Amino acid sequence: MAKLTTQTLAPDAEGLERAAALLHQGALVAFPTETVYGLGADAGNDRAVARIYEAKGRPSFNPLIVHLADLDAVKDLVVWNDNADAVAQAFWPGPLTLVLPLRDGAKISKLVTAGLDTLAVRMPEAPVARALLHAFGGPVAAPSANRSGQISPTRAAHVLEGLSGRIEAVVDGGPCQVGLESTILGLAGKPTLLRPGGITLDALSETLGARVAERRDTEAISAPGQTRSHYAPRASVRLNATDWDPGEARLGFGAVDCDLNLSPSEDMTEAAANLFEYLHRLDALGAHTIAVSPIPHIGLGVAINDRLSRAAAER
Ligand code: TXA
Ligand code: MG
Repeated sequence: MAKLTTQTLAPDAEGLERAAALLHQGALVAFPTETVYGLGADAGNDRAVARIYEAKGRPSFNPLIVHLADLDAVKDLVVWNDNADAVAQAFWPGPLTLVLPLRDGAKISKLVTAGLDTLAVRMPEAPVARALLHAFGGPVAAPSANRSGQISPTRAAHVLEGLSGRIEAVVDGGPCQVGLESTILGLAGKPTLLRPGGITLDALSETLGARVAERRDTEAISAPGQTRSHYAPRASVRLNATDWDPGEARLGFGAVDCDLNLSPSEDMTEAAANLFEYLHRLDALGAHTIAVSPIPHIGLGVAINDRLSRAAAER
């Protein structure tokens, strides 16, 4: 892969116009959403999408999420249904991705769906993401802007750590508000939670008026990105630490003495927003192990524990 110079663009009108022009040329542009930074490419351009896989070093069977700014554009790509309507009304724009049947003739590269007959669609809320999607005027395929298997980026600096020299540009919009990837809800058949995230299972079940099923890890992989070892820092990760061993980097939660505290006041929203940044920072200290306090398995804690257990999985 030829080495590129990665430009950092400001999130103003000029920077976003430049970013949109680059996308039209088939370039790769990382940009902030409210969840994590995405690595964007024109979803209709096979070569551009292929370059996402190359830049990330990602297994090519892994399908991508397509980002759009308005509902009519979404409905051009997927077969819409009542469940989709209900959750979109409640949570879009926001940190929720829907998997729906791909429409015949939708102008989406086959590399985006990795050959599946469904498409993952999302309407992000972050103003910079929305402005970029408007400026570009079409679907943008974007996985998280990290090298495959590494921690998701919640700041432009994280993107550059992994992808500098491999992509054309990053739009620096500051830290991401939510800090965890979007919830993925399968709606091609029976509503099924494919990945926990910023919108909780309870909130989705309430909106749909029925308990949403959870995909179990042993089931056939319909969200192939959900391999067990994912979000891996260099250090090994020890979960549910109620005391600290010598030499460990200490990631706390609540009233504990530690190196970095996800949320001293046990605020789950704050903890989610800090999670990836703090894993990055503790990993940079070079400790052999990052030990993490127990996180209550309620609300956003479910998604936080999902990411932590993947970071701790054997690899
Ligand atoms: O918050 C997010 O969702 C971020 C931002 C950038 O939007 N994106 C993100 O993308 O997390 P990525 O590629 O890291 O994760 C996408 C997940 C993968 O686990 C993938 O397997 C799943 O979405 N996925 C994509 N298309 C799918 C489909 N048709 N059926 C089932 N799962 C799908
Ligand atoms: Mg990812």
